[in-house]
Formats: sequence, C-alpha cells, structure tokens
Amino acid sequence: MAEITHRDGGLLAEFKDVTALVRACKKVRDAGYEDWDAYSPFPIHGIDPAMGIRPTRIPWAIFMAGITGTTTAFVMQWWMNAVDYPWLISGKPFWSIPANVPIGFELTVLFSALTAFLLTLAVNGLPSLYTPLFNSERFKRATDDGFFLSIAAADKQYDALATRKLLEGTNPLAVEHIEDDSHVSAGIPRNLKLVAAVLVTLTFVPLGVIAKARTGTGDSPRVHLIPHMDFQPKYKAQSKNTLFADERAMRMPVEGTVAHGELSIDEHYHRGVANGGWARALPPQVELNAATLDRGHERYDIYCAPCHGTAGYGDGMIHRRAEKIGAPKWIQPTSLHDAYVRGQAPGQLYNTITHGIRNMPPYGHAIPEADRWAIVAYIKALQLSQYASVNDVPEKARLELR
Ligand code: HEC
Repeated sequence: MAEITHRDGGLLAEFKDVTALVRACKKVRDAGYEDWDAYSPFPIHGIDPAMGIRPTRIPWAIFMAGITGTTTAFVMQWWMNAVDYPWLISGKPFWSIPANVPIGFELTVLFSALTAFLLTLAVNGLPSLYTPLFNSERFKRATDDGFFLSIAAADKQYDALATRKLLEGTNPLAVEHIEDDSHVSAGIPRNLKLVAAVLVTLTFVPLGVIAKARTGTGDSPRVHLIPHMDFQPKYKAQSKNTLFADERAMRMPVEGTVAHGELSIDEHYHRGVANGGWARALPPQVELNAATLDRGHERYDIYCAPCHGTAGYGDGMIHRRAEKIGAPKWIQPTSLHDAYVRGQAPGQLYNTITHGIRNMPPYGHAIPEADRWAIVAYIKALQLSQYASVNDVPEKARLELR
C-alpha cells in the first residue's frame, strides 16, 4: 500500500468566547483573507459584518423564481382553457383572472420555495459529507461549546508561517495545523455495498407487485387494509331478499302513498292545465301584483336570461359565447317575442319551464311552482313591453306617455 501523503489543509484557531471570536474575525477580514470561516454552536449576532459577508442575493433569485411561477401558471391555464380546449361552462368567460388565482398562487409559492431551498444548499456547497476539519479532536466541540476560526490553505494569501502569526496575534486559546486528507479515498466498506445492493433490489418488489396487480387477473378479492364501514351487510337495489314472498329487496310504496309536499292534485296550479287545455290565466293561488312580477323578473334573470337574454330575444350570454366559438350543434334559444310564443297561454309557458322542450332542459326540479308562475307572469309582461299598442295603456295614463 502506498504511503498516504497529507497536504496542508490550513490552520484552525479556537477562542474562549463569542467576543474573542468576533474580534479575531475582524482582524482576519481586514488582513484580506477570503477562504476562511467561523464556527460556533449557535448563530452569532453581527458575525456577518465582522466576517465581511455581504447580504445574500438569494432573495432576488427567489423573487424571479416566484414571478416565473406566476407567469407559468397563468400562461398554462390560458393555453389550456382559452386556446387548446375551450369549454363553455355556464356562459363563463373561457379565461378570466379570478379563476386563475389559486393555481397562480400555488406555483408562485412552489417555484420560490424550491428555489430558496435548493439554492441555499448549492451556495453553501451542501450536501458535504466530509471536511478535513474533522481530523481535529478539538473541532468536535464546534457544535457544543467551542468557538473556532479556520483559514484554508487554498486561500491566495495563505502562508503557513505568516498566517499562523496572524492567528496567534488574535488572542486564541490554541492554533492548530489541519491536515488535508480529503484527496485520500478510504473507499466504501464492503458490507455497506452489500446492504445497498440488497435494498436497491428490494425496492423493485413493490413495483413488481403493482405491475402484476394491474395486468393480471385473479379470483380473490383485492386486499383491503382498512375496511372501516366499506363493507356492511345490506340490501342493494334490485337484489334478492327471501324475507318477502316475492323475494324482492325493493318494496313498493303502500298504495296511495304521497311523499310529503308532493300532493299535486290541482291541475291548474301544478300542471298549467284548465278546462282540458292550457290554462289561459294565472292560477288563483298566484296574485298578479308588482311583488309577483319582481319575483318573476329576478328568477327569470337567474334561470332564463343566460340563454334567452335579459330582454328575451334568445341572445343570452351562453348563446353569444356558443356563437363565438362556433359550438357545433348549437340551437339558438327561441326568442320569447316570436309570434308563436307570444300566442302561447300561460299554462303552456309554465309547462315548458317544468318539462323543458326539445333542446331546452327542464327546470321543474330547480324552480318551485310559485316561482314558475311568477316567471310566466314576467314573460307576459316582457312580451307586452315590446308589443304594446297605445290602446293597451289605460286612458288616464296615456297623457303621461307624451
Ligand atoms: C340552457 C339554455 C336555456 C335556458 C336556461 C332556458 N331555455 Fe328556454 N329554450 C332554450 C332553447 C335552446 C330553446 C329552443 C329549443 C328547441 O327549439 O329545440 C328554448 C325554447 C324555449 C321556449 C319556446 C318553447 C316552444 O314552445 O317552442 C320558451 C317559452 C322558453 N324556452 C322559455 C324558457 C324559460 C321561461 C326559461 C327559464 C325558466 C328558459 N326557457 C330557460 C334554451 C334555454
């Protein structure tokens, strides 16, 4: 085996306390050294200026990374939602800032956090498993109660004698020579290699099991580690229950049962039918007054205007957006001012809202009956607003029209 040669690794000085260390640092700083460092068991206030360390520029890098994150998020969402795959959702714009804020925020934080973390490691030369300082018995106390200053032999100004003199002039407890053996590789112990090989091999086992489960078939049920209440004895729809003569788990309601609030025997109010045809008037339960019309107006604007437009001309926001992107198979919502719609009885309009018509979806599930009638009343008013003649205005009020 060849003789191991050690190089000069520099000098290590130990100090009594923080004050002595900071004073020494100032001297070394003023002597113009660059490749040196101070060690203490805890952070020392004011050590940065004493060592001549300028404020780090990492915050700027983090700031730029944050901006990059924000931009990435916005461009990504804009590309996906507005360009590559525009999808009309309730007439909302394809791209608008508020919807993009959560992802924008997340990527800003993600980019800047990762940059801060990785850059701090890189700038400090971490991870580092070894430094020649470990050869010093004394230095072990750097994490306990020792205060140290080391000057590396790699420093341009380093001179074994002159530098030692400088350190000795700073009132240290001791100055020690460091041997640099970092170029000597002790090699990785054989056992460690063996353990590593076994571990690496073992990591493939879960992958193999997953691959088998994904591609293979089998009769046994899946492994369910924490069943909680996932599997309980119960009867599912359409299953068998021998308790009953007909063996059906699903039971029919008792003849004549009506669910609470679903007794709808009033043909006019519930179905818009009167005297065997569409009811030509509002049902007696609904009073035609300003409050009803206001309610109808409000409900219309919520449920109908997105398609039919606030004035009822079939030009709502959804329609306009659909036109803009040329949505295939789009049917324009009917203008409520078409002659044939104007001619429709209130009962028929009520029925259209309840059940929908051709391409228009039903709204009975969403709008209670009283509100449906209020909307019908409002539509009638809306139609009148576009087609009234002077004769529809009460004689007295006509004077005000001038
Ligand atoms: C999702 C869009 C949409 C909404 C919301 C909508 N409609 Fe329609 N409506 C349509 C379309 C589309 C048609 C035309 C259907 C066709 O001809 O296939 C239509 C047709 C109609 C007609 C004509 C019926 C006929 O006899 O031809 C009336 C009246 C009507 N809607 C009333 C309403 C009212 C009242 C509301 C609110 C409760 C409403 N619509 C909400 C899309 C909508």
